Amino acid sequence: MTDGVDTRVNLAGIELRNPVLTASGTFGYGTEFSPFMDLGAIGGFVAKSLTLEPRSGNPPPRIAETPSGMLNAISIENIGVEAFLGERLAELPDDVVVIASCFGTSAGDYAELAARLSESPRVAGIEINASCPHVKSGGIEFGQDPGLLEELVGRVRAATPKPLLAKLSPNVTRIDEMARVCEAAGADGLSLINAVQAMEVDVETRRPVLSNVLGGLSGPAIRPIALRMVWQVAQAVSIPICGIGGIITPDDAIKFLLCGATAVQVGTANYLNPAAGREIAEGVAQYASRHGFPRVADLIGGLRLS
Ligand SMILES: Cc1cc2nc3c(=O)[nH]c(=O)nc-3n(C[C@H](O)[C@H](O)[C@H](O)COP(=O)(O)O)c2cc1C
Repeated sequence: MTDGVDTRVNLAGIELRNPVLTASGTFGYGTEFSPFMDLGAIGGFVAKSLTLEPRSGNPPPRIAETPSGMLNAISIENIGVEAFLGERLAELPDDVVVIASCFGTSAGDYAELAARLSESPRVAGIEINASCPHVKSGGIEFGQDPGLLEELVGRVRAATPKPLLAKLSPNVTRIDEMARVCEAAGADGLSLINAVQAMEVDVETRRPVLSNVLGGLSGPAIRPIALRMVWQVAQAVSIPICGIGGIITPDDAIKFLLCGATAVQVGTANYLNPAAGREIAEGVAQYASRHGFPRVADLIGGLRLS
């Protein structure tokens, strides 16, 4: 209870103390943020996407600031699944909800990762990153092709008994179709959106600002796109949605809940304020209290259309 409000939500079988998670790739492996925030104050976090082997990312420059946003092409730099399971998970307090994110270049990689991660009781759920906008092989290829996405989700579904979230790419024409494909293939929930494929140019050097040329745009610049997609997907499927994209303030998170999201993830905001997740969670509870909602869950899908 916060401000007399029951803040708990159930996301695809994962019990969360409140609906505010932090997003993969923007919150490390959790422990990096414990000096700034009690990790128990947020609903949980999605760890940086993992691959079977450790992986280094793109050379710099791989991050740039853009109007109301951030452009990145990190390219899934990570410590690999074994170091995550053997070292990083053990450093986290027991009451922190951890969702692990999988990334690979084949459906078999993703399935193997999910099976390995499922052996840990500390992993509350698995998120499939089928949507990285700037990795040449894997990621976006799966997220943009309904047939590949169906196969990928089906393979991972067969490999894990844990709650399974599929993270959707916004870089598609029909987000509702991709959502339906994931639901039919056995996903328990959907996370959306990943970053929007984008680029920026430095006119003095006449070069792209990122070494990779293309990157993913995140932050407030993409929020209205993300809201539109969450709204459309909420009409198309009956599995729960975790809304992501440009959430900086409690009001931003509430917009996603009203459009049908059961929970949200905070990404780029963590770079501006490492305690953003906690402050947003508190603000959502205060809003519910101020507007007479006994439960934060009462806000889900509450958009008024007339
Ligand atoms: C620097 C950076 C790294 C990211 N790395 C990952 C990643 O490893 N896996 C993933 O699924 N999403 C990754 N994302 C995407 C975020 O999880 C999120 O979907 C996206 O940034 C939109 O949310 P935001 O506008 O709140 O940042 C990354 C985003 C940023 C900015």
